[in-house]
Parts: sequence; C-alpha cells; structure tokens
Amino acid sequence: MTNETEKPAKRSQQYRNWLSLSGAIIALGSFFSFILLFAFDFISHHGNPYMGILAYVVAPAFLILGLLLIALGAWIERRHSRRIAAGAARHALTIDLSRQRDRRALIGFIAGAVLFLLVSAFGSYQTYHYSESVHFCGQTCHTPMNPEFTTYLNSPHARVACTECHVGSGATAYVKAKINGVHQLVCTFSGHYERPIKTPIKNLRPAQETCEQCHWPSRFVGNLDRTYSHFLADETNTPFTVRLLLKVGGGDSRHGPAGGIHWHMNLANKVEYIAGDERRQDIPWVRVTETNGVVTEYRTPKFTDDPAKHTIHTMDCMDCHNRPAHHFRSPDDAVDLALSLGRVDTSMPWVKSNLLAALIQPYAAEADALQKIATTLRAQYPNDPKAEQLVAEARQLYRNNFFPEMKADWRAYPNNIGHKNWAGCFRCHDGLHKSTTGKRMIPASDCNSCHTILAQGSGPQLDQLNAKGHGFFHLDAEYSDFSCVNCHTGAFTK
Ligand code: HEC
Ligand code: HEC
Ligand code: HEC
Ligand code: HEC
Ligand code: HEC
Ligand code: HEC
Repeated sequence: MTNETEKPAKRSQQYRNWLSLSGAIIALGSFFSFILLFAFDFISHHGNPYMGILAYVVAPAFLILGLLLIALGAWIERRHSRRIAAGAARHALTIDLSRQRDRRALIGFIAGAVLFLLVSAFGSYQTYHYSESVHFCGQTCHTPMNPEFTTYLNSPHARVACTECHVGSGATAYVKAKINGVHQLVCTFSGHYERPIKTPIKNLRPAQETCEQCHWPSRFVGNLDRTYSHFLADETNTPFTVRLLLKVGGGDSRHGPAGGIHWHMNLANKVEYIAGDERRQDIPWVRVTETNGVVTEYRTPKFTDDPAKHTIHTMDCMDCHNRPAHHFRSPDDAVDLALSLGRVDTSMPWVKSNLLAALIQPYAAEADALQKIATTLRAQYPNDPKAEQLVAEARQLYRNNFFPEMKADWRAYPNNIGHKNWAGCFRCHDGLHKSTTGKRMIPASDCNSCHTILAQGSGPQLDQLNAKGHGFFHLDAEYSDFSCVNCHTGAFTK
C-alpha cells in the first residue's frame, strides 16, 4: 500500500518493549536488594556465612537475569523491525496517554514495578533474618546437620544462635566463614560431606571471639557441688551415686584466688600443647609460659621430637568444654539419666543392661534401629505392662544421641570435660608428663586436687558427707590404675 520504508527502530527504541522493561525492573530490584543485603552484612555484629551467598551470588544472579531480559527484549524487537521491512505491521511500544487502554496498562505496570521493588527489599530483609536463624543452619541441610541440631536443642545453649558460636567477629573470621559457607552449601547439595563430620572444627576458634562474648572469662566460679547418678548393670540396677565438690576456682586474681580447674584460663599464663592425633585425644607435649617469662615444658617419655616440627595449639575454653552445644551422651550416661529421672522403672530386672545393649547394636539407619530396639525390648519383657513405656523411652534416647546415617554418636565425639569415658583431663594429667627438672603436672592419682568426693554409694551412704573427701571406693571391681577409659568405654553391659 505504502511505499514509505520504515527504518529499523533506533537503539533506544529497541528497548521500548515489555520484556526489556520487566528485565530493567528485575535488574533494578536485585540491585537494590544487593545494596540492602550488603549493608546488613556490613553493619551486623555477627556476620553470617550464608548472607554472602545471598548478597554476592543470588542477588547478582538476578541482576544478570534482568540484564539478559533487557537484551532479549531488544533483540526480539530488532528482529521485529527487520520484518517490518518485509511488510509486517510494526508493534513498537508506543504509549499514548490519551488512549484509555494505554493509561490502564501503564498504571498497572508502574504499580507492579513498585510492588516488586518493595517486595524484593522486604524479601531480602526477611531472607537476611532467616539465614541468621537456627532453623536455617540446623534444618536446611537436614541430613548432615541433624546430629548437631538435635544435640543442640537438648543443650544449655539451645537458645544461642548457631552463628554466635560458629562465626566469630573480626575480618578474617568473617571472610573465612563466607568461603566456608559457600563450600558447605556446595558439599550439601552434592552429598560430599564426611560422615561423621570431623571434629574439632578448626575455624571455630579462638574462644575469645565466641564463648567469651557471653561468658566473662575472669569470672570466679569457686566450688561447684555436682551429683552424678549411676546404676550398675546388674539384676537389680543398683544405684551408685557420686557427689563431688568440683574445685573450679577462677583464672583472675582480681576477682578471687586464681587457681583450681579454671587456673588454665589464668589471664597471666599461657598454656600450649601439641596433639598427636586429629581429634586431639593424645597430647604428648605441653608448655606453660608465665607472665614473668618462666617457661616450663612437659612431655611424655615417648615424645622425643622437636616441638617446632608440630602445630602448637593454645589452650582455651573449648579444650575442656568442647561439647557445650552438641553433647552426644554415652549410652551409659544417657540410660543412667533416664533411670535417675524415673523415666524408666528401675524395678524391671536387668533393665539398665538390656536397654544399653539394645541401643549400642550397629544399626544401618534410624528407622531400622527404632524398630529393632522395640522388638528386642518387647521380647525381653513380654508380659510387663511397663514395656511400652520402656520402648518409648529407648527410642527417644536413641533419637537424641545416635545418628547412624551420619555415623555420629559418643564414639565419634569425645567429651573432654571429665575423665571417665574419655581421657579428657587425663590427656595431660596422666602423671606421665614431666618437665626436664622432673616437675610433674597434677597426676591422675591425686584425685583431691580437682575435686573432693563428698559422698558416694546409695541410700544412707549418701548421707555420710566428708568435707575432706572420701577415698574413692570403686565397687568390688578390680581397680589398680587410674586410666578409667581402659575399662569405661561408655557402654557397660552384662
Ligand atoms: C555454645 C556454642 C555453640 C552453638 C550455639 C552451636 N555450636 Fe556447633 N559447635 C560448638 C563447639 C564448641 C563445637 C566443637 C568444636 C571443636 O571441638 O572444635 C561445635 C561443633 C559443630 C559441628 C562439627 C561437628 C561436631 O559435632 O563437632 C557442627 C556441624 C556444628 N557444630 C553445627 C552447629 C549448628 C548447626 C548449630 C545451630 C543449630 C550449632 N552448631 C550451634 C559450639 C556451638
Ligand atoms: C550468646 C551467648 C553465649 C555464647 C556465645 C556462649 N554461651 Fe555458654 N551459656 C550461655 C547461656 C545463656 C547459658 C545458660 C546459662 C544458664 O541458663 O544458667 C550458658 C551456659 C554455659 C555453660 C554451663 C552449662 C551447664 O551445663 O550448666 C558452659 C560450660 C558454657 N556455657 C560454655 C560455653 C562455651 C565453651 C562457649 C563457646 C563455645 C559458650 N558457652 C558460648 C550463653 C552463651
Ligand atoms: C581445664 C579445663 C577447663 C577450661 C580450659 C575451661 N573450663 Fe570452664 N569448667 C571446667 C570444669 C571442669 C567445670 C565444672 C563444671 C562441669 O564439669 O561442667 C567448668 C565450669 C564452667 C562453667 C559453669 C560454671 C557454673 O557456675 O555453672 C562455665 C560457664 C565455664 N566453665 C565457662 C568457661 C569458659 C568461658 C572458659 C574459657 C574462658 C572455660 N570455662 C575454660 C573446665 C574448664
Ligand atoms: C593441654 C593439657 C591440659 C589439659 C587437657 C588439662 N590440664 Fe590442667 N593443667 C595443665 C597444666 C600445664 C597445668 C599447670 C602445671 C604447673 O603447675 O606447671 C595444669 C594445672 C591444673 C590444676 C592446678 C591449678 C593450680 O591451682 O595450680 C588443676 C586443678 C587442673 N589443671 C585441672 C584440670 C582439669 C579438671 C582438667 C580437665 C577438665 C584439666 N586440668 C585439663 C594442663 C592441662
Ligand atoms: C585433673 C583433675 C582431676 C583429677 C586428678 C581427677 N579427677 Fe575426677 N573428675 C574431674 C572432673 C573435671 C570431673 C567432672 C566431669 C564432669 O563434669 O562431667 C570428674 C569427675 C569424676 C567422677 C564422676 C564421673 C561420673 O561421670 O560419674 C568420679 C567418680 C571421679 N572424677 C573420680 C576420680 C578419682 C577416683 C580420681 C583419682 C584417681 C580423680 N577423679 C582424679 C577431674 C579430675
Ligand atoms: C579395671 C577396670 C575399671 C577401671 C580402671 C575403672 N572402673 Fe569404674 N567400673 C568398672 C566396673 C566393672 C564397674 C561396674 C559397671 C556396672 O556394673 O555398670 C564400674 C563402675 C563405675 C561407676 C558406677 C557405674 C557406672 O557405670 O557409671 C563409676 C562412677 C565408675 N566406675 C567410675 C570410675 C572412675 C572415675 C574411674 C577412674 C578413676 C574408674 N571407674 C576406673 C571398672 C573399672
């Protein structure tokens, strides 16, 4: 009809199409989200590794998507205008505000765009909070984190966010956690994580940046009176209780005498050690540096190496309190607790021994374990009306402390606070560590330097308190050396 050949749309016109415009909105929205996330991330006291993923991976990804859409829109538009040359009708976006249809579309578009920007800002704020949350850390990657999450919920720190302990403050901790966060996410999705997750985790330290944010390191604790309730693995489940006065003391002489168990935290001294294994259960070399410059080195006779060839760790809270949030109870202790709280009836013959034996079998998966534990216990107490309560408690104990899918239980995660089921204090205080002058650290046999036994046994025996400390009467079991771990593996059955 007309021979007027339209020129291809000008560059700026190429972008005037709905696709490019939506792309621009997405790009703008993600750019704002990025700025917002970056600001939160920058200002927040405790950085969060997953924030990095959002701010530096997710938001830019959307930005790129937006830019691609803009380009795609322009490309389609250009092809269109080329086709116009071939006689097709032209559909470039022309907005004529005198047309009601255009007015409506424009209002709709602007409203939508504003809404999108608001939602993306609000969304990134919410995501920020979510990624800080315990729920995110503990449950998003369900299988690998389940053991730590479950034990955490049962710990005295159940209301302390994961990030409070796991991400220290300071620039290096921050960057490390960021990189680690991305790494963890990749591992989780690809299924390449270790079972069990290795411990100790190197990037948790130092304690100054985590534990000491809440716990005042120079606090004087003094003596703590603790009661440990146990039951023997015999027919009558004989109670055996130990009541200790733990000499925790303090580490800062401005607040009380510096001494006792928290002496190690003496702000004036530095305790360093070398570990012979990855889990730091074998400690052959220890060095104490006092403020006055006096240095004492202790080593076991077997350790003849030059210390400079090894990694030297500085002792802190977590060398003793390594399970403040993830305590995998030994089956012995888990069952004793249930018995002492009356959740399992001690009148059931051999119940301690049977329950323990049922828990510690090698099961392939939790579902399998829960079913087999029930079958075993029901068969052992066929006509006992208390059997169902026992089964329910056994299953709960299992779920709280055993995670076969991750191979996580007390065997994988030693608790270093005591010395009964794991070497703990006796890693250093075993009597074998000597200095060149023959000086020894408090040996295991010197029970009273760490605690006094106020009372022990059962029934009326527990009323006989002794302020100076009873000698430890250890049943009638043969008991000649002080390496409790030689016999106590955390699971005694008969
Ligand atoms: C009170 C501080 C604290 C809190 C809160 C905390 N953890 Fe831990 N976490 C630790 C300590 C201490 C270790 C042991 C590290 C060591 O010995 O080096 C640890 C270890 C771990 C490990 C390594 C495996 C292991 O058991 O040693 C994982 C995984 C873990 N925590 C995940 C979490 C998750 C997920 C949360 C939140 C649901 C959380 N943690 C909360 C202190 C904490
Ligand atoms: C965000 C604060 C916070 C951080 C960080 C923190 N804790 Fe705690 N801790 C608490 C609170 C709260 C309690 C419970 C106090 C109570 O209820 O008596 C507690 C209790 C404890 C107890 C006594 C537990 C018991 O069995 O009675 C120990 C030991 C302890 N924390 C050690 C640690 C260690 C070690 C770390 C570092 C890995 C740490 N905490 C990090 C807040 C914190
Ligand atoms: C040499 C090992 C050791 C070191 C190091 C150590 N503690 Fe303790 N701490 C203990 C023992 C043992 C107890 C007694 C309670 C127990 O058995 O859980 C205790 C008790 C505590 C308690 C509970 C006090 C109460 O009133 O209930 C807190 C909190 C605590 N320690 C925090 C810390 C912090 C924070 C650090 C690091 C600055 C630290 N500890 C370093 C061994 C240690
Ligand atoms: C890494 C090695 C190491 C570990 C683990 C360790 N200690 Fe010590 N402990 C030392 C050293 C070193 C000394 C100081 C020896 C000296 O006097 O030269 C010491 C001293 C002590 C003292 C005497 C403090 C004083 O008043 O002089 C007590 C009590 C004590 N430790 C208890 C414990 C308890 C309880 C545990 C376990 C929760 C424990 N230690 C774990 C290395 C260790
Ligand atoms: C280096 C310090 C130290 C020495 C030496 C020491 N203990 Fe302990 N012991 C501890 C600590 C710390 C705990 C508390 C563990 C906890 O809170 O779980 C403990 C706990 C115990 C318990 C209770 C354990 C439980 O789970 O029921 C008994 C029993 C005990 N000690 C006996 C002894 C005897 C017997 C000796 C001497 C042969 C001795 N201890 C030497 C530090 C020591
Ligand atoms: C020669 C092996 C042996 C040594 C070493 C040993 N024990 Fe025992 N212990 C036993 C036996 C066997 C029982 C009885 C277990 C049962 O019937 O449940 C027992 C029971 C106990 C009990 C009460 C029941 C229980 O299972 O908790 C406590 C507490 C205890 N021992 C603490 C210690 C401490 C602390 C040390 C180190 C100072 C130690 N034992 C060293 C063999 C030993």
